[in-house]
Order: sequence, then C-alpha cells, then structure tokens
Amino acid sequence: MTFEYAPAPESRSIVSIKPKYGHFINGSFVAGKKHFPTINPATEEILSHIALGGVSDIDKAVMAAQKAYTKTWSKLSGKERGKYLYRIARILQERAREFAVLETLDNGKPIRETRDIDIPLVAAHFFYHAGWADKLDYAGLGHNPKAYGVAGQIIPWNFPLLMLAWKVAPALATGNTVVLKPAETTSLTALLFAEVCQQAELPDGVVNIVTGDGSTGSAIVNHSGIHKIAFTGSTEVGKKIARAIASTDKKATLELGGKGANVVFDDAPVDETVEGIVNGIFFNQGHVCCAGSRLIVQESIAEEIIEKLKVRMAKIRVGDPLDKNTDLGAINSKEQLVKIKELSAIGDAEGAERWSPQCNLSDKGFWFAPTIFTGVTQANRIAQEEIFGPVLSVLTFRTPQEAMDKANNTPFGLSAGIWSEKGSRIFWASQHLKAGVIWANTFNKFDPASPFGGYKESGWGREGGKHGLAAYLKNGKETGAK
Ligand code: NAI
Ligand code: MG
Repeated sequence: MTFEYAPAPESRSIVSIKPKYGHFINGSFVAGKKHFPTINPATEEILSHIALGGVSDIDKAVMAAQKAYTKTWSKLSGKERGKYLYRIARILQERAREFAVLETLDNGKPIRETRDIDIPLVAAHFFYHAGWADKLDYAGLGHNPKAYGVAGQIIPWNFPLLMLAWKVAPALATGNTVVLKPAETTSLTALLFAEVCQQAELPDGVVNIVTGDGSTGSAIVNHSGIHKIAFTGSTEVGKKIARAIASTDKKATLELGGKGANVVFDDAPVDETVEGIVNGIFFNQGHVCCAGSRLIVQESIAEEIIEKLKVRMAKIRVGDPLDKNTDLGAINSKEQLVKIKELSAIGDAEGAERWSPQCNLSDKGFWFAPTIFTGVTQANRIAQEEIFGPVLSVLTFRTPQEAMDKANNTPFGLSAGIWSEKGSRIFWASQHLKAGVIWANTFNKFDPASPFGGYKESGWGREGGKHGLAAYLKNGKETGAK
C-alpha cells in the first residue's frame, strides 16, 4: 500500500529579503556598485540583487581585516575568542528556521535537508571550534602556534552556509580574521550571517564578506595582504589558485572535486545498502563533492541491488524544495543543469543504459530526475568526471582486488563507501581505497571533529578536526597543505 502525500509547504514568512545587498566590510554593510540577480532555482523568481565586488572592495575588506587582526583580535585570549564563537553558535541555533528557509529559497535544496542537516551542522561547527579556541597551546599543534593574520576564503554554492562555517569557525578560533566570498548563486545566507556577526557584537573587521564572481575570488587570491587561502570548489579553479600562489609564501587548503566509489560486496545487507546508495548520490541533488557517484557492486548481487534501487528511486519525491515531504529539490543553476544534461547525453552516446523513474518536473526552474546508468565501463566519461548532479554510474566487479582497482581508477580521491557485513573485509578495503574519507555501511556522514579532504585532484590539506585547525596556524604541523 502506498500513501499519497498532501503538500506540506514550510512558510517563507520568517525571512525578509532586501531587494538589494552591499558588502559587509568592517562591521557594516557598504553599498556595491554593480549588482547581479540571485534567483530561486525552483521557480526562477528573482529574490534579490547581489553586489559584484571588485579589486577595490577586496582591498577595503583586507585592510579592515588587517586592522581588526592587529588592533583587536590578535590581542584577545583564546578564551575571549571562544566566547564570540559560542555566541555566534547560539544565535545560529535561535535563528535556525530563518536560515533554513533562506538557504532553501536561494539554493533549491529541500527544507528537510537545510533544517535537519545543513543548519544543525553549521551550529555544531561553531560550537566545536569555540571549544578549541583556548586549548590550542596544549593540542599538539606545535609550540605556541600563531595565526597567519588575514585568511581569504572562497566557497561554493552546494552547501552555502555550511561551507562558510567550515571556513569561518576554524579561522576565528585560531585567531585569524577573514575576508570571505560566497558563490554567486547563493550569497543570501552569508549576508544573513553578517547580521549574526553584528548581533554577536563581533569586533568590526574580524569577518568581512564581499560578494561577487570568479573575478572577485581572484582578487582575494592575488591580494598581498592575505597570507592564507581556503577554497572549496571545482578542480579547475583550484588549479588556477595553485598556479596563482605558486611563487608566493601564501598557504592554501583546496577542497576540490570527487568521484566517490560506493563499493558493495556480496555479503552487504541489501536493504540498508540500497538506502545508503540513495543517500550517497541523491542527497543534496548530488551536488556533493564527496557524493557516492560511482556504484561498484559485486556482480553476483548486482541484479538484485539494481532492481531494489529502482523500486526505491521511484519513491523519491522530486519537487517544491519548501515542501517538507520533498526528497530531491531543484538543480542550483541553469549552468549546472546544462552540465548534468551534457554529461548524461555523453553516457548515452558511450553506450551506458540510462534509467529514471517517472517524475513530473515543473517547466519553471531547473530540474533533473534521479538517474542511474548501468553497463558503465571505466573508460566512460561518466565514470571519470564529476557530474555534480543526481546521476549514478554503476560498474560491477568479481574479485575484491578488482573492486579496489576500479574504485581507485579516477583522477580524484575524496570519498569512498564500503558495504559488507565482515569487519575484516571493511578494514582490508579501507586500507586499499585511496580516499580521504571512507564510510563503512553508511554514507555522507559529517562531523566537525572529523578531518575532511582528499588525495590527488581532490585537493590539498584537511578541514575539520585538529588537522583543520593546523591549517590556520603557522607551524601548525599539518601535512598535505601548501
Ligand atoms: P567554481 O569552482 O567556479 O566556483 C566555486 C567558487 O570559486 C565560487 O565562489 C566562484 O565565484 C569562485 N571562483 C571562480 N573562479 C575563480 C577564480 N579564478 N579565482 C578565485 N575564485 C574563483 O565552481 P562552479 O563553476 O560553480 O561549478 C563548476 C563545477 O565545479 C561543478 O559542476 C562541479 O563539478 C564542481 N564543483 C565542485 C564543488 C565541490 O564542493 N567540490 C563545489 C562547486 C562546484
Ligand atoms: Mg540563488
């Protein structure tokens, strides 16, 4: 028996969006010169106009951050810095619903995820790092670890506020000040976070937020007053940043793309595994750098798994992101939808077999039905390139070693999943998989205490946990980062 779901839309009355925003520099909003629209990708409604920051805006923000570092922030004890972080964390919790609705409107992801995953994790990151602020001297991070000064931070659109938290919380806990640029399609929650900084009475200039596009990001990367870069986004832009800072003494962490393997052995618990596969690739519309976008399943159980996966996929509710029943929301932008469609068409042309459940997709907004490709081979582009959408490529294997070889056969090395009932097999596989994050019998689980990052083209360094703190400290004893 199946139940019909009546619509259960979350009200958007809790958010008030201004028609136009400027930059947040030195504790105040300052007017921008040029602006560009930000839309709700589920409806194409224009939500607001965002300022396009230029070199002079970045310059002002860096000067404010330098002054705040020298005059105020570097003079506070870790305990005092921690108090501000706790205050920010509590305000974020108090205003959680407002942030969740705003994130869903601007990004297109389901309210169920912003409400239950993104925003609670954001608050958790601030709480976690608040606790570290006064313990840095005793944490094995080197003798008397010191901040770099001003950190330049550039973030993507897939987890807008969460990526802000991953960047801002460790930077402030370690005593750095910040110039941050959100992604062009999802600036609104970062601008609301600026209000939280005001509400928390964070000293002026400790956090500066300049909105804009790639040129604004590039102005951050090339500014001589910035000593540490933290970037999350595409491997292509990550490489550009690496080139730009190669001859400087700037430090950098780069969190880039992935093509995560979800490896399913023949002794895996089938129903749980199917849930894990769905969570691995359809969570957040597949706009996840560590998504389990390649299913590598043992041949003897492949048919059963695929059959059950199709049944489960037919139950995924695609539609209004503000509806509390929705599982899969809108694709974040027209450009991203074009990319997903192009790579999927390449999958067809390369001979893989495409399947999607019947979905009624709206004409307005950007939508893509959950999709799997079976019969994929390692040479196919859909097995090698990041699609960054709700598209799963399925490959099979006969021996455990073959599974490992296939899993590792990509330019990336960010995440992997292992499904098996045998502990010994899980340990064996986790030692052979070349990935920064490996989940066993689960997927896409995040915790502020757990370091996150990749091998190969997935980037440099780690964020989160003690490793993530080290990346914001001189002589911070980190491995892997520049
Ligand atoms: P992107 O890498 O261009 O954008 C990420 C951020 O970098 C944005 O804030 C952007 O304004 C900024 N940026 C762009 N060019 C820059 C430059 N030259 N210097 C400094 N900052 C710059 O990613 P985009 O174009 O939005 O997405 C393209 C593809 O990248 C996606 O299809 C996906 O495959 C991948 N991607 C991966 C992410 C991840 O978390 N690993 C996140 C976003 C995208
Ligand atoms: Mg938007």
